[in-house]
Amino acid sequence: MDKRRVYLENYGCQMNEADSELILGQLTSTGFQIVPEAKEADVILLNTCAVREHAEQRIYGRVAQLGKLKNRNPELLIGICGCMATHLKEKIIQKSQLVDLVIGPDSYRRLPEIIEKAVGEPFVDVRLDKYENYADIRPVRAEGVRAWVSIMRGCDKFCTFCIVPFVRGREHCLPLDQVLEQVKEAANEGFQEVVFLGQTVNSYRDKEKGVKFADLLEQASKVEGIKRIRFMSPHPIDFDQETIEVMKDNPKICPQVHLPLQSASNAVLDKMKRRYTIEFYDELLQRFREAIPEIAVTTDIIVGFPGEEEKDYQETYEYMSKTKFDLAFMFKYSPREGAKAYNWGDPIPEEEKIRRLEGIINLQEKISLENNQNEVGNITEVLVEGEAKKEEGHWFGKNPQFKTVVLPKDGTKPGEFVKVRIERGTPHTLMGEVVR
Ligand code: 5AD
Ligand code: SF4
Repeated sequence: MDKRRVYLENYGCQMNEADSELILGQLTSTGFQIVPEAKEADVILLNTCAVREHAEQRIYGRVAQLGKLKNRNPELLIGICGCMATHLKEKIIQKSQLVDLVIGPDSYRRLPEIIEKAVGEPFVDVRLDKYENYADIRPVRAEGVRAWVSIMRGCDKFCTFCIVPFVRGREHCLPLDQVLEQVKEAANEGFQEVVFLGQTVNSYRDKEKGVKFADLLEQASKVEGIKRIRFMSPHPIDFDQETIEVMKDNPKICPQVHLPLQSASNAVLDKMKRRYTIEFYDELLQRFREAIPEIAVTTDIIVGFPGEEEKDYQETYEYMSKTKFDLAFMFKYSPREGAKAYNWGDPIPEEEKIRRLEGIINLQEKISLENNQNEVGNITEVLVEGEAKKEEGHWFGKNPQFKTVVLPKDGTKPGEFVKVRIERGTPHTLMGEVVR
């Protein structure tokens, strides 16, 4: 029999991207072939996100589109993988009869069997398994300069707005040796950058070895061939001074930190069960900036959480004005069934949520623009990645701060480190000339 052909689309965060690479790894090693277009496939997989309701709505829309391919190929299977699978389980099949498989984030090892079983009738496998870390599965990594390495899975924090602990289960870490093995593998495959991933990546521990996150960063930086190390997403309460020191002293660890704030009001932080106060958060952020003056600090903000009053929102607005994050990912609160805050309803009217969201988006655009314009004249090191989308004849790449830099091709190529003098800045991009 010909190899079965699989097509996969990824949605959501980098953890999902890393999981998609594992799914493809598992399938290619068991006789499947990856195809670049849905219409060529026998199995279509969508790796999904459940963090906000909008993400799930989008998936139903996509399934309806892809479902048309079943007219031509009645044997075509459509599978929903990832967080939406664990969140909605059988409900997905009840809602869309086009879906044949529902596969949670801890079931990818069984995918080849599940695909066999789903022929004829839909199959749901959403068991969570706190021992599953896929450490032995070799991912099929997307081409490029950057390799994702998941070092822990799940989350133990239970922020009241968040569905992740329910759909991805309890926190569990990969053993240090296996993480380092993956970093070496990535280096051997030609990647120059690794990004360590985890829902609370800096709570990483290898208990048997007595190893903490700072030690992992330190050890990974010794792997030859890897030039840049980043990590996503940490939780503010899990940082220790050692991690800041390692970042400061180790040139391979990039001067970039994502510090999800969510809200600057202590009343809201408390209801969100974020486990820190704004005073604690700000002290941490200042310690990062003092130790590593060139560091880029980014954040996540939610507006319209139940009980967020105008004065709470103003505190967030003012903190953002004062702190000047390099970038902020900003969201309207979306109630998620299963998370604790779901019981508190969604009392803030949609128009009001939109007003608050637009307020901070406009503010942050101005700040990001100002930050980037302040870069004009500076020289920054860019790891070239590929064609710039908007500017013909130009490459884009990232600098150590993870800012996107656009530069003329000028004899350089992807995979090279190039010094660039910044000449212009927009809110999301820096543009410059190559310095010889
Ligand atoms: N509604 C809106 N935003 C959310 N996030 C997580 N859960 C929700 C929700 N229910 C945001 C948080 C988190 C980011 C990944 O997504 O800001 O840090
Ligand atoms: Fe969700 Fe909070 Fe865990 Fe982040 S730390 S994944 S927001 S529960």
